[in-house]
Amino acid sequence: MVKQHPLKGPSKLKLGVFSANADGGLAITDVPERWQARWEDNLNAVQIADRGGLDFFLPIARWKGFGGKNRVREWSFETFTWAAGLASVTERIGLFMTVHVPLVHPLYAAKALATVDHISSGRAGLNIVCGWNPKEFGMFGVPLVEKGYDQADEWLEIVERAYVSDAPFDYDGTYYRLKDAVSRPASLQSPRPVTMNAAFGGPGRDFAARNCDYLFTTFTEISEAGKHVEDIRGRADKLGRDVGAYTVCHVVCRESQQEAEDYYERYAVTLADHEAVDAHMAGKKEFSQSHDRESYDRYRKRFAGGAGGYPLIGTPERIVEDMVAISKQGYSGIAMSFVNYSYELPFFCDRVLPLLRQAGLRIE
Ligand SMILES: Cc1cc2nc3c(=O)[nH]c(=O)nc-3n(C[C@H](O)[C@H](O)[C@H](O)COP(=O)(O)O)c2cc1C
Repeated sequence: MVKQHPLKGPSKLKLGVFSANADGGLAITDVPERWQARWEDNLNAVQIADRGGLDFFLPIARWKGFGGKNRVREWSFETFTWAAGLASVTERIGLFMTVHVPLVHPLYAAKALATVDHISSGRAGLNIVCGWNPKEFGMFGVPLVEKGYDQADEWLEIVERAYVSDAPFDYDGTYYRLKDAVSRPASLQSPRPVTMNAAFGGPGRDFAARNCDYLFTTFTEISEAGKHVEDIRGRADKLGRDVGAYTVCHVVCRESQQEAEDYYERYAVTLADHEAVDAHMAGKKEFSQSHDRESYDRYRKRFAGGAGGYPLIGTPERIVEDMVAISKQGYSGIAMSFVNYSYELPFFCDRVLPLLRQAGLRIE
């Protein structure tokens, strides 16, 4: 039976898990309990999230790591096959695939995405990325295209046409020339699975405004986070579209504020894998616009702690306060990372979700 996609569910603030498919999750740390992202770890974490009532599981798309002591992120599961495996052991949670447009042909993506949508009875989601890391693309012998989002326009148009076309179609674009293209089955979700674009810069926002349901993006401080939501909504509005925003946060939730802050300091400063943090930050700073420029100068701890996202550190009450504030800034959802998803998700689901229900942000 086709289910309502969890991102279309009634909770005002959707919550999900980001990057459990990759070594370290989003952290770059050498604490012994660091996330190793083995298959059993992924199975365990997704089942906790599914039973706990979280809305989505979202993978990072990573092909090469950042070196350092643990060769962090070098180990990561490919996201179509990962989502397919998780779909058959879960019942409610949305399962995203994160796809690098220049590395995956749109007809391959259309078929793989539809396959996961069928396995999961309509719980698939597509997260589009155009890529930022030339070293990673070098592995494939593929250059980073300057106008990546022009290619992405064609890419997504082909995926959508493949789903709606009853007969084979030709496509004559700048990046793709297809003859008699066909892809069956179509996804169960119509016209295509829920789609987001992970980006921060103007061209990425315009692409999301034109084509996606959500922009997945970062902010630096909660008090000014709403400007990014207004920006994407404004761009979409001009096109007569409604596009929301999701963001990314790393979470340390403990009984006491001190305990949470001490642990954040321990994993993201004292025991950070500094060589890999340097490599990650240098690459992002040079090639990616995924954050405000000041983030790189001011927030090294955030890059070690969770790839430069916003930190939610503290008691369940404090985390809820911050989440209420993020929701008030207009965000539709938060993709969260933890140092060890399996160890930390049960406490989060038991203690934070009921408070979010009381605050009116979640209905389960
Ligand atoms: C929240 C968020 C998540 C991202 N996830 C990925 C990812 O999984 N893999 C990847 O290669 N790039 C990822 N990116 C990078 C973007 O795909 C993009 O390359 C980067 O943001 C720079 O381009 P922009 O100017 O379009 O933002 C992410 C960016 C953001 C903001």
